[in-house]
Amino acid sequence: MLRFLRAFLFPFLLIWWTAFSNAALGPRIPNGFVTTHGRNFVLDDEQFAFIGANSYWLPLLTANEDVEATFQEMENADVKVLRTWGFNAINGSELAGALKSGLTYYQVWNSSEWVLNDGPQGLQRLDNVINTAGKHGIKVILTFTNNWVGYGGCELYINWITGASQTHDVFYSDPRIIASYQRYVKVLVERYKDSPNIFAWELMNEARCLGDLPGGPNCVPTSGLISRWYKQQADFVRSLDPFHMITTGGEGQFNWSKPKYYWYNGSFLSDYNYNGEAGENFDLDLTFDNIDFGTYHMYPQSWYTELDTPGSNFTVKQWGHNWISQHSNAIRQVEKPLVLEEFGVTGIANKTNIYPAWVDLALKTGHSIMPWQWGQLDLIEGNRVIKYTDEILDGASPNDGYAIYKNQTELWDIFKSAAKVQNARSWIME
Ligand SMILES: *[C@@H]1O[C@H](CO)[C@@H](O)[C@H](O)[C@H]1NC(C)=O
Ligand SMILES: *[C@@H]1O[C@H](CO)[C@@H](O)[C@H](O)[C@H]1NC(C)=O
Ligand SMILES: *[C@@H]1O[C@H](CO)[C@@H](O)[C@H](O)[C@H]1NC(C)=O
Ligand SMILES: *[C@@H]1O[C@H](CO)[C@@H](O)[C@H](O)[C@H]1NC(C)=O
Ligand SMILES: *[C@@H]1O[C@H](CO)[C@@H](O)[C@H](O)[C@H]1NC(C)=O
Ligand SMILES: *[C@@H]1O[C@H](CO)[C@@H](O)[C@H](O)[C@H]1NC(C)=O
Ligand SMILES: *[C@@H]1O[C@H](CO)[C@@H](O)[C@H](O)[C@H]1NC(C)=O
Repeated sequence: MLRFLRAFLFPFLLIWWTAFSNAALGPRIPNGFVTTHGRNFVLDDEQFAFIGANSYWLPLLTANEDVEATFQEMENADVKVLRTWGFNAINGSELAGALKSGLTYYQVWNSSEWVLNDGPQGLQRLDNVINTAGKHGIKVILTFTNNWVGYGGCELYINWITGASQTHDVFYSDPRIIASYQRYVKVLVERYKDSPNIFAWELMNEARCLGDLPGGPNCVPTSGLISRWYKQQADFVRSLDPFHMITTGGEGQFNWSKPKYYWYNGSFLSDYNYNGEAGENFDLDLTFDNIDFGTYHMYPQSWYTELDTPGSNFTVKQWGHNWISQHSNAIRQVEKPLVLEEFGVTGIANKTNIYPAWVDLALKTGHSIMPWQWGQLDLIEGNRVIKYTDEILDGASPNDGYAIYKNQTELWDIFKSAAKVQNARSWIME
């Protein structure tokens, strides 16, 4: 009888509890939106762990067939999340060339302000990427701007709005720049806020005190400038969109009271990845209510030129191990999910030697991961310069030394197997 009662009552209690907790937490997340539960992502009541892809060039493709083929290949490889740029801003002087070459652009500076391009060579290309992603069961992390000048990052806002003699840090503090950034962010968020194809909004790619412009006096370890900017922008995005997740897009630098040192040119230097000098404060930034999960990046080979050489006390592989462990320890303090959202080494032999160990550790410590960067073969666009040195060559997507193509079988298989592990981790929540 007791057992019967329990069996009978339990579903009602569950419904009551669900209704109650939803009322307490606000409106329910719409179906198909990813949210968080402790250190896990959750999609429609199931845990969601993934292998993702980075491809900033997808919205820059001009042939829809190529967009479709790329997503089909991602689906075949069990990729569940794509990270791409939601920005493509150009100078007024670049407009004529862009119209001629078909370069995608979303904003152009017309001598007094940014003019939005929501036409077929503008945001409609991004619409197509986001729609096609959805058809292949892939969700998109959309990044609002870049710490670097590339593809119209924050240096363009600085140059045009406050003047070319300013330092990089004014991006995070000048009210005119913040208003301009927010105006553009509002356009993107309002355009896609009802779409389940958006995984999360990302405030900036790799926010740092230094950019391609020199640093300034207001962004130092004690100023907390980037942390304040993260909080301000995350709160702004949340005011526009109650449901999608928000993240920083940062490299995950720490501000430890006992920072590490690294070997450079015959002496040990205080390490900018640990001493707050880069500008982020990973431990603090994660505590903000509207930062839903942590991101970090990993490029030890280019960050430490003397790794693997005599004098250095750690290897590229070992440094990566430490960086992964340190972030999974830090995330335990706040119980949010963690994404290693960019990482790489150059050279195929280096990749096949190092990636299995990094991937294995990241998966064992509950991460989702996104290697930099997706390589696509057989694009019908053939040979074409996109911008800068980025080009499609013999049908292969741009290669900055980090691209992973399907014909690199041993490397490709590392991530295909990892995707199987992640799929197996995605189960029904208790
Ligand atoms: C720039 O764009 C704004 C808004 O569309 C417009 O009012 C202004 O006249 C434009 N200026 C130039 C120089 O084209
Ligand atoms: C666009 O403007 C930025 C900022 O003034 C400048 O650094 C960059 O060289 C310009 N790019 C081109 C292609 O004119
Ligand atoms: C970084 O650490 C230093 C020294 O402990 C502290 O003064 C500073 O406020 C910290 N910065 C942030 C952004 O928390
Ligand atoms: C390398 O050695 C220095 C000096 O002993 C030490 O401070 C630093 O933490 C070491 N780095 C690593 C990654 O072990
Ligand atoms: C390395 O150290 C030497 C001796 O202190 C110095 O002359 C040289 O400029 C340094 N090189 C670099 C790249 O910092
Ligand atoms: C492989 O890694 C080593 C050590 O970081 C580096 O010196 C070398 O240039 C890399 N190989 C390629 C092809 O990038
Ligand atoms: C894979 O494709 C790329 C791009 O077309 C090409 O450069 C490379 O030689 C190919 N590698 C192999 C192993 O076939």
